[in-house]
Amino acid sequence: MADPPAIETQRLTRVFESRKGFLFTEKTRTEALRGIDLTVEQGAIFGLLGPNGAGKTTLTKILSTLLLPTSGSAHVLGYDVTTQVEHLRPRIGLVLGGERGLYNRINARENLRYFADLYGVPRGEREHRIDAVLDRVGLSDAADRRVEEYSRGMKQKLHIARGILHGPELLFLDEPTIGLDPKSARETRKLIRSLVSDGVTIFLTTHYMFEAEELCHRIAVLTKGRIAAHDTVAGLRQLVGGDRTIEIEDYGFDDDELAALRALSGVSKVVTEEFGARIRATIRIHAQRPTTEDIRALLSNHATLALRERRTSLEDVYLDLVEEEAN
Ligand SMILES: Nc1ncnc2c1ncn2[C@@H]1O[C@H](COP(=O)(O)OP(=O)(O)O)[C@@H](O)[C@H]1O
Ligand SMILES: [Mg+2]
Repeated sequence: MADPPAIETQRLTRVFESRKGFLFTEKTRTEALRGIDLTVEQGAIFGLLGPNGAGKTTLTKILSTLLLPTSGSAHVLGYDVTTQVEHLRPRIGLVLGGERGLYNRINARENLRYFADLYGVPRGEREHRIDAVLDRVGLSDAADRRVEEYSRGMKQKLHIARGILHGPELLFLDEPTIGLDPKSARETRKLIRSLVSDGVTIFLTTHYMFEAEELCHRIAVLTKGRIAAHDTVAGLRQLVGGDRTIEIEDYGFDDDELAALRALSGVSKVVTEEFGARIRATIRIHAQRPTTEDIRALLSNHATLALRERRTSLEDVYLDLVEEEAN
């Protein structure tokens, strides 16, 4: 029989209800996930991309059995996340990252011993496995130092070591590079890539398009609890709506000018954003014209106009998707 998908969800939702305000009488209701249908095959790195508050951590927690869904269903490695938890847990690893979840006063090896016992790694295999994962994440030399002496990057490596200690088939990584300096972030991405060659399927969340583009074979964009797109990097590029982008910047553009830009043949969309005291308009173009000269001619009364042309990037696609959902 073929392998079950790593992940399969149907109409998955999660609502958070909390009370706030004076005497906690005010009820707030947050729909963190609004009907997620997602299938992820085994093997390779899957990226869940979305801005803060999109629901990435909520989905990660549900799939890794830390949190129950409100409705809908989710299967991971063929097991139901609500009713087959005991079968599923030994097969998955979860790295939520951050400062929490490690014991600072003891060394890395002692931390891993503690978690090995917790995960039921047989005593006879324990030291061997600990050596193997420390080596895997590049912490062998620091293994006997107390964790409180570790940098953020080293702590993140130890979190990952902990996540793979029991040999999971599927590893969840929630924003694995957040808060790391660029060098540590690069090392962490390299480590993540190398795990795949051991046959581990990786489900990672990030709010950086470049990170998803660099690491992931397939990407789903989550915005406000919904999947806005799910495709390969190449497939997402198809959504670009033109591979030329011209950015213009000035102290302001009036509505007539923006309407005139949008009406130009060849222009597929114009998105504006505030940029300090200035406004930036990003113009997506699917033809040879308009050129930068055409645009400059149209805005000839703008003495302080800055203008540049570049290739449309995947970051643009991402911002478009997030923007569309917001509107
Ligand atoms: N325990 C909770 N109680 C109430 N609201 C929550 C809770 N956890 C998350 N939320 C809300 O659910 C939404 C999604 O949060 P989250 O899954 O953490 O997003 P992300 O990880 O993409 O930043 C947010 O609006 C957040 O405020
Ligand atoms: Mg999160």
